Amino acid sequence: MKVLVCGGAGYVGTHTCVELLENGYQVIVLDNLSNSRYSSLERVQEITGKKLTFIQADMLDRLALEDVFQAHQISAVIHFAGLKAVAESVKLPIKYYQNNISGTLTLLDVMSQAGCKDIVFSSSATVYGAPQVLPIKENAPLFSINPYGTSKLIIENILQDIIAADRGWNISILRYFNPVGAHESALIGEEPNGIPNNLVPYICQVAAGKIDKLSIFGGDYPTKDGTGVRDYIHVVDLAKGHIKALTRLEQEPGCIIHNLGTGIGYSVLEIVAAMKKASGIDIPYQIVDRRRGDIAACFSDPTLAREELNWVAEKNVEQMCEDSWKWQISNNKTKHL
Ligand code: NAD
Ligand code: UFG
Repeated sequence: MKVLVCGGAGYVGTHTCVELLENGYQVIVLDNLSNSRYSSLERVQEITGKKLTFIQADMLDRLALEDVFQAHQISAVIHFAGLKAVAESVKLPIKYYQNNISGTLTLLDVMSQAGCKDIVFSSSATVYGAPQVLPIKENAPLFSINPYGTSKLIIENILQDIIAADRGWNISILRYFNPVGAHESALIGEEPNGIPNNLVPYICQVAAGKIDKLSIFGGDYPTKDGTGVRDYIHVVDLAKGHIKALTRLEQEPGCIIHNLGTGIGYSVLEIVAAMKKASGIDIPYQIVDRRRGDIAACFSDPTLAREELNWVAEKNVEQMCEDSWKWQISNNKTKHL
């Protein structure tokens, strides 16, 4: 079975390509490399000992997409391609809507034209906004607080409208919580440009001595220790969820929506302690003002994914931190271009 992985050269995409290849799928990656590099896909092939096809193209390029569907008999698409920096989306909303929404519309239209109507879409816990009830179930109210989140919500709505109009579509919407960690080989992982925005990559750079100290955004939240609580999930577990979603679409058509999280909330201070244990290095920090737009706590109820996809997150927070740290050290040494 041939799968087109849009945005497959990125963080979650590369880990999913490993799982796809290891599960016998033929993989075609389409990526414009705006936030990734081809060498990560070489490493995917090194890990698996299997080949994939890479097409460097933008999903807004309709002709390039049409060429892919003409040249290959594609059974399903996994759609990771998108811009994901929340703060940047607030500054550059047109860029975000153009890339994420127009790009997705182009992809969906070309898929429809080619008669390929199976898609797995990367959504985000951000669509729950500031959740009123924890843990969060899939039927919780949806709300967006920034253009990035709005782009995810709009795409979810577009997908629902498409399947309402044409029952031939099979759609899986996966709402990721906070992906962290890296492949155990330490050959692939997340490579943020410049200073990281997200907690775990930031702490890794503090531990590596690249940044002096961590600023913890808020110590007065109504949480277990006053710091923000999130549902961190190992990226390999997340990647495996995509294989389960594809399998489910093959067996039971329709539109399905699932949270992919562990169901456990960890505070910033708990993550600092876990990273200290994993790296053996003290993580200096200071508690500063809350970050604008942050919420106190966000963690999933992953029951539906267990029941319907037969998926559960298997890796614990220790493994997440160990693999993040292993990747940080190895990538420092072998920085690839
Ligand atoms: P990433 O930036 O590492 O990967 C996205 C990939 O898409 C990159 O390789 C980029 O070059 C490519 N891309 C972007 N726009 C494109 C376009 N127009 N045409 C072709 N390729 C394009 O991000 P990631 O962390 O792997 O996230 C994957 C998806 O999951 C994204 O849609 C993101 O919004 C979503 N998501 C990520 C997180 C997270 O914290 N990592 C959380 C929730 C949801
Ligand atoms: N934090 C700090 N200091 C930092 C970075 C983060 O204290 O330097 C705190 C935040 O305040 C928050 C927690 O660490 O309490 C996690 O923050 P991240 O930036 O790592 O993650 P977020 O939950 O804010 O957002 C992430 C992605 C979003 C996505 C969301 C849900 O960045 O794109 O998870 O999936 F929408």
